[in-house]
Amino acid sequence: MEDLVQVLLDSAIFVLPLWFGNAAPTVLGGGAPIDRGRLWRDGKRILGDGKTIRGFWAGVFVGGIIGGLIELIGLLLPITLPINGDIILRLHYHTFLESGIIFNLLSILNAEGFLSNFTLLGALTGSLMTFGGLIGDLVGSFIKRRSGIERGKPFIFLDQLGFLIFGMVFVFPLISWPIEFLLVQVPITFVLHIGANLFGYFTGIQDEPL
Ligand code: CTP
Ligand code: MG
Repeated sequence: MEDLVQVLLDSAIFVLPLWFGNAAPTVLGGGAPIDRGRLWRDGKRILGDGKTIRGFWAGVFVGGIIGGLIELIGLLLPITLPINGDIILRLHYHTFLESGIIFNLLSILNAEGFLSNFTLLGALTGSLMTFGGLIGDLVGSFIKRRSGIERGKPFIFLDQLGFLIFGMVFVFPLISWPIEFLLVQVPITFVLHIGANLFGYFTGIQDEPL
């Protein structure tokens, strides 16, 4: 049981930039759509007005800030902070760094020093995972438009999990997370995403409940 709580906590901290980075466009997005209004061969929009250039980069930026803060706070706090008996608060992406392919390629070139500033590494990790997540979000909109689902209408599972899976896959070459993180985060992120959208709907931040 404690092991499960520990994985829940570790994986939640791990994907925190992705959660915030994916939510950020709802508040910070707007302006020109990425597809510039263009249509696909089926006569429907490529992505739709819900995917904007500003929203995309604002999300990547927010993800980078959160990732950097996680490492920074982790450096200021003791390496591991026991919360409740054996449960430990770990704020470190760099613990997984040496298993990543990017680190290993850089070490062959004796250039792994590029990744030695942990706050910058956290920012890079957060923005890379959010970049991947928001690419997943675009893929999701592309699939929705091709399936005839209008902008803003829900597509269960794709809406809640596309960004998570893309984000985690994109960051894997840099920070090779353990598989339990994904297994635990699929149900957690699914439920949280629906919860966050309902909250946004009832507080008037967004027009659709899902
Ligand atoms: N948003 C944005 N730019 C992005 C992603 C999102 O500006 N790259 C903003 C848009 O205002 C969007 C809102 O965040 O309406 C919510 O995002 P999302 O639910 O992903 O978009 P939808 O409007 O539901 O569009 P789609 O059906 O294509 O997913
Ligand atoms: Mg939506």
